[in-house]
Amino acid sequence: MAKKVKKPWPIKDVMRQIYDKHLWGGNEFDFYSGYGSHDPKITNPYLNAVIAFLESHNKKLVVCDLGCGDFNIGRHLTKYVKKYMALDIVENLIERNKTLFKADNLEFHCLDIIEDELPPADCIILRQVLQHLSNKDIEKITKKLAAYKYIILTEHIPLGNFAPNKDIISGQGIRLKQDSGVDVLKAPFNLKVKDQKQLGEYVLENKKGRIVTTLFKTF
Ligand SMILES: C[S@@+](CC[C@H](N)C(=O)[O-])C[C@H]1O[C@@H](n2cnc3c(N)ncnc32)[C@H](O)[C@@H]1O
Repeated sequence: MAKKVKKPWPIKDVMRQIYDKHLWGGNEFDFYSGYGSHDPKITNPYLNAVIAFLESHNKKLVVCDLGCGDFNIGRHLTKYVKKYMALDIVENLIERNKTLFKADNLEFHCLDIIEDELPPADCIILRQVLQHLSNKDIEKITKKLAAYKYIILTEHIPLGNFAPNKDIISGQGIRLKQDSGVDVLKAPFNLKVKDQKQLGEYVLENKKGRIVTTLFKTF
């Protein structure tokens, strides 16, 4: 009998299951995007750095948050921007966010940032999302990033030097076990930028890598 070829799960179902089963932890929460979105030692310095950047502009920026998750991060940023568009692929998470977080300049949209067209904005926030995606999926996203002036990218990567962009299957895990992490400037993504600046770094205990936030300015 011919062996059945296993079809990979659609990314929408994968992410929905992560939230349904609390695979990123936080059993006491309805939706939980992981400790990286909740530990104040990680989130406070991140928010301070991003707010300082947003406030450094005379004209407030239009921001698009790709993979906004449970919005424990984004909810602190909306008052510093002209418009905040928060996108995620998990439908019931977006519905929940819409009821919990309301502001005149805030919009939530259920959207697949890999396949769908992204709205225009001055600045992209992409925080601990690419690290969970396969190279094929990341490539589709990075191709769209060149259209945005600023990209604030946060990735969980190994300590010290590492072989970038080893491939994984999109899902709960990241490349750390393979001693790898995402570097959008390296192959196969080769994102071209004019300028880059590290906004922050949090080193995790027990050599579990570091969470690094970089501001990229494109051409
Ligand atoms: C680890 S969470 C990070 C959430 C948020 N950025 C933060 O830092 O708190 C990753 C998020 O990316 C979302 N995501 C993954 N793939 C996506 C896709 N193709 N389109 C939209 N959102 C996606 C997941 O549903 C999840 O909410």
